[in-house]
Amino acid sequence: MTGSRDGFSSWMAACGERAEQALARALPEENAVPHSLHRAMRYAVLGGGKRVRPMLTYAAGEACASGGGNDAALDAAAVAVELIHAYSLVHDDMPCMDDDVLRRGRPTVHVEFGQATALLAGDALQTLAFEALGGMPIAPGLTVQALQVLAAAAGSRGMAGGQAIDLDSVGKALGREELEAMHRLKTGALLRASAALGGIVVGASSAQRAALDGYAQAVGLAFQVVDDILDVTADSARLGKTAGKDAAADKPTYVSILGLEEAQALAERLRQAAHEAIAPLGAGGARLAALADFIVLRDR
Ligand code: IPE
Ligand code: IPE
Ligand code: MG
Ligand code: MG
Ligand code: MG
Repeated sequence: MTGSRDGFSSWMAACGERAEQALARALPEENAVPHSLHRAMRYAVLGGGKRVRPMLTYAAGEACASGGGNDAALDAAAVAVELIHAYSLVHDDMPCMDDDVLRRGRPTVHVEFGQATALLAGDALQTLAFEALGGMPIAPGLTVQALQVLAAAAGSRGMAGGQAIDLDSVGKALGREELEAMHRLKTGALLRASAALGGIVVGASSAQRAALDGYAQAVGLAFQVVDDILDVTADSARLGKTAGKDAAADKPTYVSILGLEEAQALAERLRQAAHEAIAPLGAGGARLAALADFIVLRDR
């Protein structure tokens, strides 16, 4: 391993810890009424997950900040994107969607707390995300932009829309463009917003924002391509979720449509595209480049 890769591993660990603490502070305490809802929310969010979306926010902020970022605002943005992600996982796992019993190495929220509480926990995590974003200590105009970006990414023209297409596609052999469109919505949109928020919070220039967006579009699609690959190549213990679910549920994925090797080649091309997109950021983009490598080369 090279020194810079060791440096990146420590940066990732520090970011994960920073996000964990910010999330723990943002979430309601378990002893606050209603207890079971708050327990379910904390269970869904804390103590697991790779924290890729907060890492994108932090790395994007670092890459675009001139003279030190705004730590409290970056934490709020990182919290917001991870809360939306956690909510999407709680609902994604419910019997009416993917019907999964294992997530982050533990029983899913509806298995542990029941379906009604899981539904409400997802709802409340989503609104808490916007509460966190609304309280950022930055210029009000930037806060409004951040709220709009995250709302659009999570909604029917973003993640929720992609999830609707996913459910509608069971048993169908989608064309490559349709598959790409679905992945860009269900997963790409939130990763794209995660990077965009990092830029917005530190007052990135429009050139910096454009570079971030090109990068995040590549990484966002790559993320779901690799998720599809890992569903067939990794085991449940490593993934912390049930492997082989896509084929079992007859979902169209990059592996079912392109085959494993072509899906892997596509992920590699997207990794290179991500690197090219952040060239305008210069040395400041090093963490983003390493994060693209992690996203494509990860094993869980
Ligand atoms: C899984 O996301 C769901 C997708 C959008 C593919 P992650 O792989 O980021 O899940 P965690 O947060 O690490 O558990
Ligand atoms: C989920 O995609 C995307 C979300 C918006 C949650 P998947 O259904 O493939 O995610 P996993 O494999 O269950 O984590
Ligand atoms: Mg799903
Ligand atoms: Mg799923
Ligand atoms: Mg999956």
